[in-house]
Amino acid sequence: MNVLKSTSFLLFSITFTWSSYGMTTLSAKEVKVQAAKEAKAIEVEASLSDDHPAIEEGVTCADCHEIKLDAKTTATQVWLTGEYLGFAKNEGAMKNEKVKEEIVKAMGGKKKSGTCVLGTCINNTPTTTTSEFTLNPDTMTLHGIHEKGTAKLLHIKQNPRVSLDWHKEFTDWGLILCIQFTGRAELIEGTDPEFEKIMIDCIPYEKSAKQRKITLDQARTMSKQMMLITRIVVDEATITNMQFRKEGYRPWQRWTREMAK
Ligand code: HEC
Repeated sequence: MNVLKSTSFLLFSITFTWSSYGMTTLSAKEVKVQAAKEAKAIEVEASLSDDHPAIEEGVTCADCHEIKLDAKTTATQVWLTGEYLGFAKNEGAMKNEKVKEEIVKAMGGKKKSGTCVLGTCINNTPTTTTSEFTLNPDTMTLHGIHEKGTAKLLHIKQNPRVSLDWHKEFTDWGLILCIQFTGRAELIEGTDPEFEKIMIDCIPYEKSAKQRKITLDQARTMSKQMMLITRIVVDEATITNMQFRKEGYRPWQRWTREMAK
């Protein structure tokens, strides 16, 4: 342990002890912020040592440490590019553009909506919500139109990082088809000109307007007043399709925005 590190450890311990005896003006939050400054990046599999500073309930490792996510060691990464079930390393992986085509083929593009499970996170507590989303292949963004004020929208407001799952109901191992998206969500208000553009270009609202016996204009006006649109900029999308094997590809394929640049 070098001098700098032991000093910071000592500082942290003193602050921590003081605050636990209520003899300091540092709030619990300030202690956390202080600790976060001291804490170094850790491996995803790191565990707590006996002399680790105490952690309050509800606080996660990531609140203080940056977690080094070495995706290469995960099972998924092996399925994607590793030596696996008859595939040599890097064999059977599709080009980014082809993965995108397969994703669009599975979920549909503009004016098609798919029932998805949206994962949001508030106060380190994840929640999943069933919601309809439409994929715009031009920008690889997902769009949903939602009633205002629901929990998922409040979650997104304070933490735009989301994960979204689209899948075909399981019937048989050989027919598994699902897509896992991760990305950043934005909320678009009815007063934003983007709202109407997205409705016209992407969201399949025509059928529901017809069912409600209102014109498309009326449907858009009402939506602008009562709804919010989410735009999820997809960073990564992983598709699992057991049928890919038939064409010599791995069943797991991943599109990334990084590679699409
Ligand atoms: C309240 C803030 C805080 C939380 C939460 C926290 N740590 Fe730490 N952790 C520290 C501080 C401060 C140190 C000491 C400074 C250092 O050596 O990085 C430390 C040190 C460590 C070290 C030693 C790092 C090294 O290279 O010496 C490991 C490993 C570690 N923590 C793992 C974890 C894990 C795993 C969790 C979650 C279960 C966690 N920590 C949660 C503040 C925190």
